[in-house]
Amino acid sequence: MPDFVLDTDLPPSHLKLMVQLAPGHPTGLNLSNPVIAASGTFGYGDEYSEITDIQRLGAIVCKGTTLNPRQGNPQPRLVETASGLLNSIGLENIGVDRLVREKAPVWAEWKVPVIVNIAGESLKEYKDLAAKLRGVKGIAALELNISCPNIKAGGIEFGRRPDLTARVTAAVKARNELPLIVKLSPNVSDIVPIARAAAREGADALCLVNTLKGMAIDIPGKKKLPAFGSGGLSGPAIKPVALYMVYAVAEAVDKPIVGCGGIESVQDVLEFMAAGARAVEIGTASFTNPSTMINIIKDLTDYLSRSGINDINQLVGTAHRW
Ligand SMILES: Cc1cc2nc3c(=O)[nH]c(=O)nc-3n(C[C@H](O)[C@H](O)[C@H](O)COP(=O)(O)O)c2cc1C
Repeated sequence: MPDFVLDTDLPPSHLKLMVQLAPGHPTGLNLSNPVIAASGTFGYGDEYSEITDIQRLGAIVCKGTTLNPRQGNPQPRLVETASGLLNSIGLENIGVDRLVREKAPVWAEWKVPVIVNIAGESLKEYKDLAAKLRGVKGIAALELNISCPNIKAGGIEFGRRPDLTARVTAAVKARNELPLIVKLSPNVSDIVPIARAAAREGADALCLVNTLKGMAIDIPGKKKLPAFGSGGLSGPAIKPVALYMVYAVAEAVDKPIVGCGGIESVQDVLEFMAAGARAVEIGTASFTNPSTMINIIKDLTDYLSRSGINDINQLVGTAHRW
């Protein structure tokens, strides 16, 4: 076996890995394959370009972007637990103006679509963000983050109530023409009414899920961890929760779903697609191995070839018939 990867690794032409995340939208959001880098775990994409072939990904979602730059929460902000990672980054980012000036022109030259994840503390901040990102070249879609558990105000409050989810979705849709993915929180008692509200107000797709709120305690150090006092749990620990939520929302809402939470292997991707996801986002697993997503794309191709399935879309929702 060669120890380098050639383009012969690309899927044979009879295999269709392409998925559509905004089928009724004028520009659409068509991905060459269903594997997307999750927000906050892949920077602005360029940081990874020397260690993995980012152009082969289905898409990249950039770090959560706010109206003004943010420094984020105090350290430590990352804590490893038995089968997951706790983070309380607190949306450290460069702010929307620098993103438009410095990052979007770079993305405009890329083959891989880049999706901008937006987060706010008020309805007005979401509206202003949507307006500033209108017509910016290099941005393929917006991902509305109403699910960040690591900031003191806003964010997750919108994602906890169907009425607020509806208002923020409608407001962003009214101010920006791009396809819109609404990213939901698992920190709710019933995710289905929230998913329905986003869909009703024009979300083109839904992403499920963001991190689950949690904490750790350092007994000898007499400290709560992360330093913020709580954090968002990601990684394998949350996969069954995310998988169930994808399944439940797929039963209730007729919109493309992007599954996210603890995905590390092709087996995980197949499970999420069977539950109803059309694409997946991968976060924490890229920290362990930055080539995880590229390996999964290759494994998906092999799986389709071996199983005699020509079109990956045939895998979506199969578990609903079992
Ligand atoms: C360090 C870190 C930072 C994150 N930052 C964001 C963010 O800015 N916006 C967002 O919507 N999600 C953010 N997330 C959540 C991930 O995008 C993803 O929803 C979550 O980690 C679950 O996927 P995973 O188990 O594959 O990591 C972050 C996650 C981690 C671990």
